Amino acid sequence: MSGSNGAAARGPRVAFIGKGGSGKSTISGTVARLFGRAGWPVLALDVDTLPGMAYSLGAPPDAAPRLPLGLAAVVQGKRGRHWKVSKGAGPAHLVDTYSLATPDGVHLLELGKLPGNVRPEVTIVFRRVVDGFKRPGWAVVADLAAGTRQPVFGWSSFAPVRIAVLEPNAKGLITLRNIRNETTHVLVNKVRSDADVDRVRSDTDLPIIASVPYDLELSAAERQGLAPIDAAPDSAAVEAIRSLASWLEEAAV
Ligand SMILES: Nc1ncnc2c1ncn2[C@@H]1O[C@H](COP(=O)(O)OP(=O)(O)OP(=O)(O)O)[C@@H](O)[C@H]1O
Ligand SMILES: [Mg+2]
Repeated sequence: MSGSNGAAARGPRVAFIGKGGSGKSTISGTVARLFGRAGWPVLALDVDTLPGMAYSLGAPPDAAPRLPLGLAAVVQGKRGRHWKVSKGAGPAHLVDTYSLATPDGVHLLELGKLPGNVRPEVTIVFRRVVDGFKRPGWAVVADLAAGTRQPVFGWSSFAPVRIAVLEPNAKGLITLRNIRNETTHVLVNKVRSDADVDRVRSDTDLPIIASVPYDLELSAAERQGLAPIDAAPDSAAVEAIRSLASWLEEAAV
């Protein structure tokens, strides 16, 4: 908990965005675990409707900590119909009631799974947690759905640091251009050589905050169904994510 001064300290808040398969869940879950080990209680928000963070947190993948129906309804107001969230359904209460405690003091909340299981009322209340959870001394890490839609609609705005995770190829660079305005920093993942990072650097004016090597130990961890930080704590990839997490503790507040 470097740079903090006890319970009143503001914890780091970070959102991971980017193309499908680039490594958002792997990296966000590992950062959340590392924040936990550094002493922060952590809220891990899996905003993807194909949840992926449970695996990288080492949480049971079928636990599915989700918000229930019935916490918001459409009401008729003076200016027309609008959503109203139930009294008492404040962000901190929702986190305490519906999140799942996972290893290292990380509390996981998932938006839910498509198709069919994410009803608009759940999305409204989940967004309230994303924007409104500001408990002092807590870190917040969000793993957004792939692509541009969620960042463009403000799902990452709660975080002072919004990291685009990309692979160093043409598709990754195109995605970065499309989410450039929602991004504060770039993480180049699955790096095989310095030239990979140079390619990204020559294509963007955003700061490259981390470069994570392509690491077969992560694939092996995934095949075993284990979190990278549990199965491969000394791997080069986890080491690079460790440096990122330390930087975020100072920079993402
Ligand atoms: N540095 C790395 N080296 C090797 N494999 C990696 C690395 N980072 C991630 N992977 C692998 O890449 C795949 C995609 O990773 P991950 O699920 O984290 O991506 P994602 O961006 O969350 O994908 P989605 O958009 O589908 O949710 C996984 O099989 C993961 O193990
Ligand atoms: Mg994912």
